[in-house]
Amino acid sequence: MNRRALLTSLALAPVIGGCRRMAVAGTPPPDLPPLRTITPGAFGTCVQVANLSDPAWLDLARTHVSQLTPEWEMKMEYILADGLGRPRLDRADRIAAFAHDNGMALHGHTLIWYAQGQEAFAGLDNAAFDRAFDGYIATVAGRYRGKVRSWDVVNEPILDDGSGLRDCHWSRRYGQDGYILRAFEKARIADPDAVLFLNEYNLEGIPAKGNQFLRLVERLLRAGCPLQGLGTQSHLWIDIPDGQIAAFIHELSQFGLPIHVSELDVSLRTGDRPDLRGQQERLVRQTARVTELAEAYSGLPPAQQFAFTTWGLRDTDSWFRRDDKDDGKDRPLPFDAFGQPNPMARALAAAFRA
Ligand code: XIL
Repeated sequence: MNRRALLTSLALAPVIGGCRRMAVAGTPPPDLPPLRTITPGAFGTCVQVANLSDPAWLDLARTHVSQLTPEWEMKMEYILADGLGRPRLDRADRIAAFAHDNGMALHGHTLIWYAQGQEAFAGLDNAAFDRAFDGYIATVAGRYRGKVRSWDVVNEPILDDGSGLRDCHWSRRYGQDGYILRAFEKARIADPDAVLFLNEYNLEGIPAKGNQFLRLVERLLRAGCPLQGLGTQSHLWIDIPDGQIAAFIHELSQFGLPIHVSELDVSLRTGDRPDLRGQQERLVRQTARVTELAEAYSGLPPAQQFAFTTWGLRDTDSWFRRDDKDDGKDRPLPFDAFGQPNPMARALAAAFRA
């Protein structure tokens, strides 16, 4: 049995072998060490203010997590909901205070994203647009200077099929590379100490998109962009061909920059295609993908192991369990609804301890 198959079988044994122990909040199973103690760099997860009043989430986070990423309350959509003139920073402040009080690092997410800001910036002339763009970054990145370890300065600039970069309200004003360069330059001024990341999804699963990202990184670095970290969201799916994930992480590492696995989850759903496989078979595939990613991350030089972040802790915290396709059975995250380890948690522990 090869190493990956062995890790997979170890990860699955407690699920296949016996019934799941009932939940007792705050008592990590003896065979699962706190993930923050074994993950190179940091073990992170996303957070919403609502989590901060959930005792079970607090127990799990304080046991396993050493870094937090605000899931949506540090984004432009929330901050500018009342318009450009009245930024709402209350919830980002609460998350920053919680991270500080609990000895957790904070990864800012995200300053400039194609998906948000259209309404707030609509109708501005060029001068006003520039003032608003630069002012937003100065206000938000400036406010959390000394509180965040890092920022996703720009999120998801690449087209889904990898054929090029997205057109959006930001690129229409500054150009496709231009808005990214401007955002990083303004973020650098606002917070000279934060590690500045470019963040993207589906890089491992869609080679054309991964290649487009690598070419963009090369162009930005050549242009003198203060880009200091590369975020691969890793919203993986279970049927990504063996070896493809590790191959991309290897290519990404060639720039010598810190790498953040920034939003890992692996849905068991397989889109609209009927899937006759049972959940256990899909969990085996999921475990193989997670093991491949965690091993590739563990194989990076320590200076490039920035953080390994899952997009939620418990299956019921997942955005997959909030969408209209949810069948109530998906298990995309390290822990189940009761805070007990899923195969994913055991696969991570096996890969990081190996
Ligand atoms: C998602 C959140 O999980 C949702 O709660 C929110 O409604 C939309 O955004 N890539 C990203 C994240 O960078 O910000 C997205 O988070 C998921 C995809």
